[in-house]
Amino acid sequence: MIKVSAPGKLMLLGEHAVVYGYPCIVTAVSQRLEVSVSKIDDIPMDRRFVDAAIRAWGDGKDYAFSIKSAFSGKYGFGSSAAVTVAALKAMRPIVENWVLFDAAYKIVLDVQGVGSGFDVAAATYGGTLYFVAAGKIIEPLEIKELPLIVGYTGMKADTTTLIKQVAEKKEKNPEKVERIFQAIAKLVEEAKTRILEADWERVGKLMDFNQEYLRDLGVSSEKLETLISAAKKAGAWGAKLSGAGGGDCMIALATSDKREVIGKAIERAGGQAIDVRPNAEGVRIEL
Ligand code: PMV
Repeated sequence: MIKVSAPGKLMLLGEHAVVYGYPCIVTAVSQRLEVSVSKIDDIPMDRRFVDAAIRAWGDGKDYAFSIKSAFSGKYGFGSSAAVTVAALKAMRPIVENWVLFDAAYKIVLDVQGVGSGFDVAAATYGGTLYFVAAGKIIEPLEIKELPLIVGYTGMKADTTTLIKQVAEKKEKNPEKVERIFQAIAKLVEEAKTRILEADWERVGKLMDFNQEYLRDLGVSSEKLETLISAAKKAGAWGAKLSGAGGGDCMIALATSDKREVIGKAIERAGGQAIDVRPNAEGVRIEL
């Protein structure tokens, strides 16, 4: 039997713009999803990703996987990408990461239809990555810490619908939306440098700016705004939604002595503070 685990992810900056070829920054999180090859056919999630992985790399063998996840599929931590990467790695344990990324991204696109692949990159490589769509650039940012706080809205985001909404907006108002994407790309570029310098105060500011652009794109929600402003009032350097928007999680940056206060403020505002560490290891064999 082989057991493989892959981390979940959180988008730090650059969502939506990344779908159109602009860069983003993503971090892998400490909560992991585990795939083991076994006889028990117990898959508590959408089977399509695992079935597609077996079709791609199963060599006609009859694989049965069981899957255990430390995070709920509702959080938007990228369970589809993590399960695809882990299932492929379980079938070919000795594989180079770029080969694994390409195969997993192809499967995710086949099943889902849309997506930049940032979640597949986080599951494969781990750490914190500067990423350009389809893996054109996957650049690890070597950092020791990332003082991140995560709050869940209690609502599941519908990524495909939100991507479509942004596409429609772009269709109607191409210049405005293109300008927003370019502005997001500019702040992602600066954030890359500031993250490497551990200038968290400035990264927090950049997250605030990014949130304003996401609001302009129409992907924020009342609940996200409530949690974001609660975190900021409690002393965060900056806060924003993470991922497609509409629900899922918000993230905030703050010194470690403020973690508890900000977590409580998020809970008082009706969210759920999630205990998760960023910059986690990529896919790995557990046994
Ligand atoms: O919904 P999530 O957390 O998988 O994030 C989606 C982020 C987008 O940029 C909107 C889409 C993508 O694939 O990059």
